[in-house]
Amino acid sequence: MTAAAPEGFLRACALADLEEDVPKRVELDGVPVSVVRTEGEVFAINDICSHANVSLSEGEVEDCQIECWLHGSSFDLRTGKPSGPPAVRPVPVYPVKIEGDGEAAAVFVSVTQES
Ligand code: FES
Repeated sequence: MTAAAPEGFLRACALADLEEDVPKRVELDGVPVSVVRTEGEVFAINDICSHANVSLSEGEVEDCQIECWLHGSSFDLRTGKPSGPPAVRPVPVYPVKIEGDGEAAAVFVSVTQES
């Protein structure tokens, strides 16, 4: 059975679709979001770097950060803050909920509330 979406949240993907440290780009209500499973948690961060129009989901994940492949700024998956220049502005991060068990477990993201 498919898990129902919590109020205000949209289904991003099945939990089983997420490989550890491999970002997955989804679009929710027209918002590009990179969903990342790492260190036993799932995070959702806006997929566009705050420095230029580059997809963060094409970068690497390490130490709970996602790296922009173009100029190397990393963004904290918990806060969206950049580790250092050239990016100086944070990227929005969104609340995540996991609903359902086993194969039915799904990842839901609220793009209307920034966390
Ligand atoms: S485009 Fe991301 S750091 Fe420059």
